[in-house]
Amino acid sequence: MIDRQNLQAFHPFSRLTRLLEGIPAGPAPLGASIPLALSVGEPKGQPPAFVAEEIAANAGDWSRYPPARGTRAFLEACSAWLERRYDVAPGLIDPQRHILPLPGSREGLFFATLATVPQSPRDGDAAPPVVLIPNPFYHVYAGAAVAAGAEPVFLPTTSETGFLPDYHAVPEEVLARTSLCILCSPSNPQGAAASRRQLKDLLVLARKHDFVVAFDECYAEIYTHSPPPGALDIVGELGGSLDNLLIFHSLSKRSNAAGLRCGFAAGDAKVIDGLDAILRVGGAGVPLPVMAAGTRLWNDEEHVEAVRSFYRGNFEIARQVLGNRFGFSVPDGGFFLWLDVGDGEAAAQKLWREAGIKVLPGAYMSVADSEGYNPGEKYIRIALVFDAEVTKAALGRIVEIL
Ligand SMILES: Cc1ncc(COP(=O)(O)O)c(C=O)c1O
Repeated sequence: MIDRQNLQAFHPFSRLTRLLEGIPAGPAPLGASIPLALSVGEPKGQPPAFVAEEIAANAGDWSRYPPARGTRAFLEACSAWLERRYDVAPGLIDPQRHILPLPGSREGLFFATLATVPQSPRDGDAAPPVVLIPNPFYHVYAGAAVAAGAEPVFLPTTSETGFLPDYHAVPEEVLARTSLCILCSPSNPQGAAASRRQLKDLLVLARKHDFVVAFDECYAEIYTHSPPPGALDIVGELGGSLDNLLIFHSLSKRSNAAGLRCGFAAGDAKVIDGLDAILRVGGAGVPLPVMAAGTRLWNDEEHVEAVRSFYRGNFEIARQVLGNRFGFSVPDGGFFLWLDVGDGEAAAQKLWREAGIKVLPGAYMSVADSEGYNPGEKYIRIALVFDAEVTKAALGRIVEIL
């Protein structure tokens, strides 16, 4: 049970801090700074230098409030990128109607949940609206669902399901109450990407039961082999409408710019308007100088290829060091390792005690089902964000210790 008044108790990193409290950190590999936080998915590379130039060039706009619907240049850069990246008919996306700037996908997902979940019935006996969430999950999905007064319904994503939810297994009664479904693809933590078929089936289901699907695609640009499909790839096959669909993109991972706070949502014009309305009440907006830098970044692919090749290099190191241990394989996307170590919490404590390495127990990204089974329990999540030397040394120590 996630308590809205006590979200701190369920926050993954607060739980990790409590788990390691009182345990002295062991000597880190290569004398790296302690802690060596492989637990956090924060890029260590830098965005291109033109970001700082663009912000400086637009410094005169710091006095202005951010325009809620963005600048024309930003919206057009986002829609041009979507058209380059996905199999979407030119002109289907109207930048003014279908795109909304966001500080990041986190804020977008949170406010989109508030905007799409209807107020719970006041009658205590009536069942609340449902938000479908993969399990394990990015904590914001569940936090947003409880903040909105919805019932989060967690769908197991295990090695048996290809680390993606099986929507065919959701009972009709639950689908009838569903107002929002969140799918992360490529997923955090496992890096599994839904196929075109799976994306299509989900959107068909959403239209049948009239719920919105929030496709969290913030890892879409970090991949080793081919670009993972996205929800926009399949709208053409489903009549070409954006109904019931919302996608979230961000520069945080694509451009090593997590601190810039710049992303966008795209999709169903009605849902975009609803999201815009609630952001005008409680949102921070994207400042104009940041939007100018974001425009440059969405228009540029060269730096993204460099970012991809950085993570590709780290996955190659992981392949060499881990082999087939812990169920390792190179994921479809993202920059995490999701390793089956038997007991994630015990492994996290051991790695900290013996090597000053912080990893996230999988159970802190997941919840137990009604039978007490927690699909994350056996796992640890490792972010491959450090450079090759540190990554190699850290993974080598992890293999030695575990
Ligand atoms: C799955 C997932 N979604 C969304 C976010 C939020 O990213 P941002 O708000 O920086 O775009 C993260 C960040 O780690 C994430 O892992």
